[in-house]
Amino acid sequence: MKALVYHGPGNKSWEDVPDATVQEPTDVVVKVETTTICGTDLHILQGDVAAVTDGRILGHEAVGTVTAVGDAVRGFSVGDRVLVPAITKCGRCEYCQRGMPSHCQTVGGIGWIFGHLIDGTQAEYVRVPYADTSLYAVPSEVTDEQAIFLADSLPTGYEVGVLAGNVRPGHTVAVVGAGAVGLSAVLTTGLWGASKVIAIDSNKFRLEKALEFGATDVVEVGPGTVGDVVALTDGLGVDVAIEAVGYPETLLTAASLVRPGGTIANVGVHGTPVELPMQDMWISNVTLTMGLVDTVSIPTLLKMVASGRIPAEKMGTHRFTFGQIDEAYSVFADAAANLALKVVITP
Ligand SMILES: NC(=O)c1ccc[n+]([C@@H]2O[C@H](COP(=O)([O-])OP(=O)(O)OC[C@H]3O[C@@H](n4cnc5c(N)ncnc54)[C@H](O)[C@@H]3O)[C@@H](O)[C@H]2O)c1
Ligand SMILES: [Zn+2]
Ligand SMILES: [Zn+2]
Repeated sequence: MKALVYHGPGNKSWEDVPDATVQEPTDVVVKVETTTICGTDLHILQGDVAAVTDGRILGHEAVGTVTAVGDAVRGFSVGDRVLVPAITKCGRCEYCQRGMPSHCQTVGGIGWIFGHLIDGTQAEYVRVPYADTSLYAVPSEVTDEQAIFLADSLPTGYEVGVLAGNVRPGHTVAVVGAGAVGLSAVLTTGLWGASKVIAIDSNKFRLEKALEFGATDVVEVGPGTVGDVVALTDGLGVDVAIEAVGYPETLLTAASLVRPGGTIANVGVHGTPVELPMQDMWISNVTLTMGLVDTVSIPTLLKMVASGRIPAEKMGTHRFTFGQIDEAYSVFADAAANLALKVVITP
């Protein structure tokens, strides 16, 4: 079979590799019919993720068809259309039992293993461990191009942004960063009845997208960002500020936007320490949340996509075939300039 193989920082190639096979009785093999690229794949290619070593097949998102099942698998059969999520769960360890499979202990102590600790989904076939507890059947009403975004970005914006931020009816919500993850938060905030959803970004195209995704207001980043947002909330600040960029300044922006009693939900992956003004914050009764996505909201999101409440397909802006995967990476690596959000890659 063919797959996209990582060969150290800056190097990857679409090449022949041994076929994916069932290795454990709890495995299945899935023929990948749709995959996509995540910002994390770009970080890996820059050499930022040391655990990813030469020879690893990249990718942690897929929709496809089961082609082989291990002897112990009960919930899936050959021919089933499935979603392969970014997080794998054994279902038995301490963290899986607590509903926090992001920290599943069974393979390397982390739920994110595809394209990280084991071979990933940017390939013609992928081996899926703990298939019964990790895979999701895709309802017939949901297309591949909708389901693919439920593997990672939609659950991330929803779980680490909207749910962790405790968005409730009537709340005002600011989302700092309108990339795929921030827009996923915008798209799912409405499900909880937020009265205002304010998207903040430096990129005009992304702000236009935010309005399409359900933002009530947009603010272009500038010296007056905080004042502009606070003015939209009767001078009080927002109930929930979701950070979806991953820079110190954007977390500080989120912290300045939140009203007393509110929540700052940090979604961004940070690479450097952030100095928070605790001398001002301690008195404001705010909550700060953070974490790795669990993807446990996928069944809910699949239902909402199936019923038309979440137009997940809006996330895909560019389409490529496996043979064009290098081009797909180039477009995604410079997504803002290419007016891209997420790319859809098919055989
Ligand atoms: N916690 C998790 O489990 C998890 C999972 C997936 C991704 N992430 C992280 O979420 C973050 C967002 O991911 P993404 O794929 O949407 O990234 P992205 O790069 O597509 O989006 C980031 C957006 O932030 C905007 N931006 C940049 N600087 C800004 C500034 N100073 N103020 C306002 N906006 C600014 C960019 O224009 C862009 O639209 C990343 O840090 C990513 O690593 C976290
Ligand atoms: Zn990802
Ligand atoms: Zn586990």
